[in-house]
Amino acid sequence: MESDYSRLTSNLGGMILVAVLDTATTPKVVGFAVFHRIIDEAELSNLAVDPDHQHQGVGRVLVEEGRKRLLEAGVRRVYLEVRVSNKNAQGLYYSLGFGLHSLRKDYYRNPNEDAYVLCLTLFPPEVLSTAP
Ligand SMILES: CC(C)(COP(=O)(O)OP(=O)(O)OC[C@H]1O[C@@H](n2cnc3c(N)ncnc32)[C@H](O)[C@@H]1OP(=O)(O)O)[C@@H](O)C(=O)NCCC(=O)NCCS
Repeated sequence: MESDYSRLTSNLGGMILVAVLDTATTPKVVGFAVFHRIIDEAELSNLAVDPDHQHQGVGRVLVEEGRKRLLEAGVRRVYLEVRVSNKNAQGLYYSLGFGLHSLRKDYYRNPNEDAYVLCLTLFPPEVLSTAP
């Protein structure tokens, strides 16, 4: 796993965002988000927030920051998979504008479960300013 992330940092399309709480005596990592970009599409492949710091907006900030950077890099669609039972994460993604794209049967193991594939379309400011 560690080597996967080291490889990602040297991959041009890879982006890892880390949320650090620096009010503590020793700065503490409280969450991270991992994105992979291929031309104008990207995948949010991992997002996690320390259980002691959940429901404080950390997950939202990580996805919003990723969305902003991907839009600037020319990405127009972001996809992700989420367990059908993971209502916490779905609540966050839907509130950020992701929509249901498809169902991926038997995607997860331990325990076995289907995945929802969610998609977010990113609109550059010039498109938004001329939208009806
Ligand atoms: C999913 C996860 C990343 C959310 O992180 P978080 O920092 O707790 O989320 P936030 O505090 O930014 O929540 C933002 C929004 O998500 C939604 N949300 C968060 N928790 C929710 C819950 N328990 N039920 C419904 N919606 C929820 C709400 O809309 C919330 O907005 P609000 O705080 O204004 O109500 C976190 O719960 C986590 O790490 N879970 C374990 C790993 C995981 O499931 N990762 C996702 C894999 S796809």
